[in-house]
Amino acid sequence: MASNVEEPGEVRDVPDQEIVVVREAEFDRTVARALAHALRAKKAEDRSSLSLALAGGGTPRGGYEQLAEQPDIPWEQVEIFFGDERAVPPNDSESNYRMAFESLLSRVTIPEANVHRMVAEQPDREAAAREYEMALPGTLSVLVLGIGEDGHTASLFPGGRPVTEGARRVVPAEGPASPRQRLTITPPVILGARQIFVLARGERKAAAVQRALEGPLDPTTCPAQLARNGTWILDEEAARGLSRQPPKGGHRDG
Ligand code: 6PG
Repeated sequence: MASNVEEPGEVRDVPDQEIVVVREAEFDRTVARALAHALRAKKAEDRSSLSLALAGGGTPRGGYEQLAEQPDIPWEQVEIFFGDERAVPPNDSESNYRMAFESLLSRVTIPEANVHRMVAEQPDREAAAREYEMALPGTLSVLVLGIGEDGHTASLFPGGRPVTEGARRVVPAEGPASPRQRLTITPPVILGARQIFVLARGERKAAAVQRALEGPLDPTTCPAQLARNGTWILDEEAARGLSRQPPKGGHRDG
């Protein structure tokens, strides 16, 4: 049973997806070690380029902080991108860039030119989207995503036009809650990424996780299904809605 996660966290291989369920206390460390393992592996496979696109929100913060402590990651060769950004300045408390800077980017040696911030606060967001599209590599090496309670991922929200975008790779988006104005990567970028990690913790996410992983396939109503083929790192609470419950302690048998 192949796993991209070095942790003893339980891995369940279902065709095209890996699900790692860990105890809450192990979540951040599992995320950090999984991302570190993926970055080292991708660097070994392809010495030319190594791109890491980060998720925003609150879930990844602890994992990013521990990722900054992981050894043997060639940070000076890593290009950093973002899956989405809110239309706020980079020092705003709602900025995904600020969260990534505080937890990771300020603590590892990445050349400034290698950090590609989404300038979502630019008044002309269409122009900002097209500029970012030019910076994005054709294929992301590692893409980190979160999931909202409504099943959104990045800033692809249920029923929104961006989730049906099949050509452009970055577009303006509108979320249901403040900050509403955003920029987001689109389905082609998610579907084309070489490796995806979806992070979810807490009971609030259980229903969305279950729908994303086991529900009828309809990404327009559950955009996180675009990442169904990824590695899902869940704590026990977020995994509680899945059809096969892990035994207490977050490790499945067999
Ligand atoms: C954003 C994120 C978004 C996030 C989910 C989960 O800009 O809000 O990119 O897709 O990953 O909303 O957010 P939490 O981790 O805060 O629950």
